[in-house]
Amino acid sequence: MSSCWPYALVDPNTYFAGYISGHIFDGVRLMIMLRRLLDDLEGFSRIGKETRGTTRLAYTDDWMKAQTVAKELLEATGMETDIDSVGNLTGIRKGRETGLPPVAVGSHLDTVPEGGNFDGALGVASAIEVVRALDEARVETKRSIQVNSFACEEGSRFGVGCIGSKFMVGELSLNSAQEIRDLNGVTLSECIQKAHLLGTEPIVKKAGDIAAYVELHIEQGPVLENLNKPIGVVTGIAAPTRLLIEVRGRTGHVGTVPMKARKDALVAGAEIITGIEKTVTETDGSGVGTVSRIEMQPNSVTAIPGSVKLWVDLRYLDEEKRRTCVEGIRRLAANVMSKREVDIELKTLTNEHGTMLSPRVINVLKQVADSFGYPYHEMPSGAMHDAAHMARITDVGMIFVPCRGGVSHAPEEFADPSHIEKGLNVLHKTLLTLANQ
Ligand code: HGY
Ligand code: MN
Ligand code: MN
Repeated sequence: MSSCWPYALVDPNTYFAGYISGHIFDGVRLMIMLRRLLDDLEGFSRIGKETRGTTRLAYTDDWMKAQTVAKELLEATGMETDIDSVGNLTGIRKGRETGLPPVAVGSHLDTVPEGGNFDGALGVASAIEVVRALDEARVETKRSIQVNSFACEEGSRFGVGCIGSKFMVGELSLNSAQEIRDLNGVTLSECIQKAHLLGTEPIVKKAGDIAAYVELHIEQGPVLENLNKPIGVVTGIAAPTRLLIEVRGRTGHVGTVPMKARKDALVAGAEIITGIEKTVTETDGSGVGTVSRIEMQPNSVTAIPGSVKLWVDLRYLDEEKRRTCVEGIRRLAANVMSKREVDIELKTLTNEHGTMLSPRVINVLKQVADSFGYPYHEMPSGAMHDAAHMARITDVGMIFVPCRGGVSHAPEEFADPSHIEKGLNVLHKTLLTLANQ
């Protein structure tokens, strides 16, 4: 099909007549512009690009630049936008009945250090493309559509993630921003001030304010690729419990202190690291856990390690199993402490609860995927997402697309355009369906 638009790269099979749930939108075939979406993804990936991957930590100049680019792309489609005082970007595409709660869509533009081009950015760029396509096709929806690029979804900067979406649903307030510190001790409040966020108060939504929320995201694991399925319909989102375990032994000269007299903090820490792996796999295998960050002092070749800090990231959907695992880790720490006569302190940095997603939205996602003939797999998410917090106030659904080798949070992160196109089409048709209910 020849196209009136310069970049029609969309596989003709994925065009769909402009009729959604019985509505004919001027017979205009809504064509999702895959090329534009890929261009936008390419553009975002260049913001914060380093020799290894892309680093756009929340509240840095690069992240603010990406939020501003997204704001301008939304405004180009005629939307009203706002970046509020915690950095959440919100755009509104007005529907016929502006008095009804809107349908929301979005994700995040902050990345982990040396991250990839798709985690978060795919969801924001897709939301922008959907509203752009609706605008070009002059499609009017019953409900307004709200686009969000949430602040600070990644937990890598503050040890706590989904900060923007937690503010939006009232799980965090500005005074709690004083207690949240990044790894350099800088508080969230200072970061917000430094980012010169000119918005008003955080935009807070309560139950009933939003009719539904949908997010498109890469799976960040290998399941869909192994099953050779292009679409994942997310049933639930596991949540992190993050612990900081400090081990204090005694430093000394590596050449003079007899082995029996040592209180080597790193050896004690190593016992904890392997013990955590054992505890998680023995709990029942439904969760995952990793010691993913370590600091040690004095960290000198000729000094016995005197102290070690271990950051632990656990992910569970089931609360009982989460609790069992954490209790097992506490027992492990107590045993190592008495056996090695070192001092061990265990702090909980965050302890969040798993979320089951909305059967109503899941059904729409499944019907839409079926309508395109896309094979899909219903699955939980091991990764945390803003969708889990939006689920506190509205019906939520998530669409996954495969990522190559299941790799994410790394420069090698990659999603195949043919999968992105399918994810985009499912997002587009699902949003239209929900926005006309
Ligand atoms: O860490 C996570 O689960 C997500 O990628 N922020
Ligand atoms: Mn993400
Ligand atoms: Mn992530």
